[in-house]
Amino acid sequence: MVTGASEGASDVEARAFAAGLRSLLEWLHVPAQGAGNEVVALVQDTLGPAGREHSVVARELPPFEHVNLQTALDAWTAADGRRVEVHGVVLPPHFGGIDLQQLMTGEALPPVRLSAPSVVDLPNGPGSTLACLRSALLLVSDDAGRYLLMLQAPREHEQPTLRVEVAGLPVQQAQAVLAELDRLRRELNVYRGHLVEVTPTPMGTVELTFLDPPDLGRDDVVLPAAVLDRIERHALGVAEHRAGLRSAGQHLKRGLLLYGPPGTGKTHTVRYLLGRMGDYTRLLLTGRSLGVVGSVTELARELQPAVVVLEDVDLVAMDRSFGPGGSPVLFDLLDAMDGAAPDADLLFVLTTNRADLLEPALAARPGRIDVAVDVDLPDAAARRRLLELYGRAVPLRLSDGDVTAAVERTGGVTASFLKELLRRAVLEALHEQDPLREVTAVHVTRALDDLLDSTQQVTRTLLGVGGAGGVGAEEDGVPLQPGPAPAVVYTGSYHPYRHRR
Ligand SMILES: Nc1ncnc2c1ncn2[C@@H]1O[C@H](COP(=O)(O)OP(=O)(O)OP(=O)(O)O)[C@@H](O)[C@H]1O
Ligand SMILES: [Mg+2]
Repeated sequence: MVTGASEGASDVEARAFAAGLRSLLEWLHVPAQGAGNEVVALVQDTLGPAGREHSVVARELPPFEHVNLQTALDAWTAADGRRVEVHGVVLPPHFGGIDLQQLMTGEALPPVRLSAPSVVDLPNGPGSTLACLRSALLLVSDDAGRYLLMLQAPREHEQPTLRVEVAGLPVQQAQAVLAELDRLRRELNVYRGHLVEVTPTPMGTVELTFLDPPDLGRDDVVLPAAVLDRIERHALGVAEHRAGLRSAGQHLKRGLLLYGPPGTGKTHTVRYLLGRMGDYTRLLLTGRSLGVVGSVTELARELQPAVVVLEDVDLVAMDRSFGPGGSPVLFDLLDAMDGAAPDADLLFVLTTNRADLLEPALAARPGRIDVAVDVDLPDAAARRRLLELYGRAVPLRLSDGDVTAAVERTGGVTASFLKELLRRAVLEALHEQDPLREVTAVHVTRALDDLLDSTQQVTRTLLGVGGAGGVGAEEDGVPLQPGPAPAVVYTGSYHPYRHRR
């Protein structure tokens, strides 16, 4: 920061600056070059002249594999007859990376030195973490002899990937060490069987975040029985008949599309399914992350049985991907689905409220989606059930006639509208009574009057009202009152998978 001449640095600032300068000088004082460097000395001593003859074999992994690599290393280290000594390696910031080759020769060396190994605490389950090495040298002795592994975690702006290197072994043996770590990573993969959200990072890779599985019962999903049955049969039924289907040579891979107006319960239904598929690895992609579906499909195949949820596919469907052909993202997505092994137990669930946008693409690449389900606005019977469902915890005092009146007035609204109606009715009652004693027809009517008020168009749009005929339209489609055009509204911070119902 540039300060005016009259306001010199305070004592505290001056002391902090001096301390910073001193530590920089200490860094620079470390002999960087050649065998005088302590890291180089350690590497050269460990390998001996013969070990230094061999090539260094390196493997790059995506950053989300960091926690799996550590899990694999922990298991590998514990194997009988193997001794592993871990040293931390530190580089001052902005020196880029370092590789084992440099440490073996001691040439072109940045000011690197030994330290206690630094670790980053990464989630390895929905409620647990694992301390993972960031930049470390592992001195190994086992049947293969004495050799070195070096691990370097991704560093923002400097190194986008996770790197593991092996030195001191003939190439084939070094490859075997890496293959063994690959096998352990796959076998012990911490994401297997969990619900995981996939988000893209600015470095062009993906980040995986564990989510708590939703806890929704079948009764919490208000859909016509035939619709819910069909969804369940396609999503869950295959798991029950996995062995039978395989032995009859039938594929297990399947695609399910849920389409319909906003607020009708597509996400809600997906959450219900995810809650029921506890033995599946569940990967959730929304919006921008749909662009990385290719690598996610590979991951899903490794972690099968697996579900890949592609929410609101219309958001990016027609965006051009960054690939050489620049094809629409939706095509990449469908190709990735097609590329996955047919006998893999993989379920792809796509949701959209713009089926019209997707149709041409789906028709051009048939066979990826085998079932498309229309999740429509609730009919009178469903609206009645929704009032019951969201009124469960409310002290409702409504006669049959009151409920019928509310059901009739709400023709054409979405399920989420009815949920909001009950919240508003509770608020109306709370204006008069606190603590809450009862919610009556008066409160429900007042809440409805407010929500259906023609001046509240934006509120209604936010609630997804305005399907075929608008509010007040009956199921036969005769509009009783014009409603706003259907609109897609995304409310910034709301995250349906991180909120309870
Ligand atoms: N069929 C339904 N049964 C029970 N509750 C529902 C139903 N549909 C919606 N809801 C309630 O309304 C909320 C919003 O619905 P949801 O997010 O599932 O809509 P959506 O169809 O995914 O809309 P969008 O197209 O905007 O993504 C849900 O969290 C749930 O509480
Ligand atoms: Mg949704």
